[in-house]
Amino acid sequence: MAKKLVVGNWKLNGSLAANGALLGACGALAGVDMAVCVPFPYLADTALRLNGMALGAQSVSEFQSGAYTGEVSAEMLADLGCQFVIVGHSERRALFGEDDAIVGSKAAAALRAGLTPIICVGESLGEREAGQAMEVVGRQLAAVLKAVGAQGLKQSVVAYEPVWAIGTGRAASTDEAQEVHAGIRRWIAEQGIPSDKVRLLYGGSVKPDNAQPLFAMPDIDGGLIGGASLSAQDFMAICRAAADADKSH
Ligand code: 13P
Repeated sequence: MAKKLVVGNWKLNGSLAANGALLGACGALAGVDMAVCVPFPYLADTALRLNGMALGAQSVSEFQSGAYTGEVSAEMLADLGCQFVIVGHSERRALFGEDDAIVGSKAAAALRAGLTPIICVGESLGEREAGQAMEVVGRQLAAVLKAVGAQGLKQSVVAYEPVWAIGTGRAASTDEAQEVHAGIRRWIAEQGIPSDKVRLLYGGSVKPDNAQPLFAMPDIDGGLIGGASLSAQDFMAICRAAADADKSH
């Protein structure tokens, strides 16, 4: 497996001044891959302040060009230096009507432009309580597989983000996360894809104090970090935990 990958998802936060201060105190560390996914208007400025980290966006249009007012294409993201784009985040699914088919199209658009999609999957609290976590995640992954094929999925990153853990301060336990990650790994292998080639990130209330045990789990290859990625100190501590977890394996 490649190095662990830690990705900051700033969501709808930031300003030129705040981003400058945050990025000024962040930078690549040995032993871990790092990226920041920032709002569209800040991509170009962030590209100048990465200090060795990779750049990503938080969403992408399924369309390449034409009469789609307000959309941003994968080709434009690549043009600005993005390497990653988050697709299918639960906030986009819940608040902006992105269904499984749209998420598949967006992942395909990202791959077409040479970007690595970070495909978010995860169950709601009700689905977890009904024992349907893996069924939901399998359905979400199947839609992406249908759109991008085995080759496309192999080139993607998958982020398991249980909806009930996002922004709640209640991260999945190491066992809860590991169980679904192992299930995802198995599901990918069943599609004939070398599953150790696909990095599986955990997201949902990752903080400096819970990062290390999560990253120590065998099928957790890194993290997708929301709130804590807005603090340079917290984000860098989480990235250090990922680098340390990698060394101890
Ligand atoms: P929090 O880390 O704020 O829970 O957000 C997780 C997330 O949604 C990352 O994409």
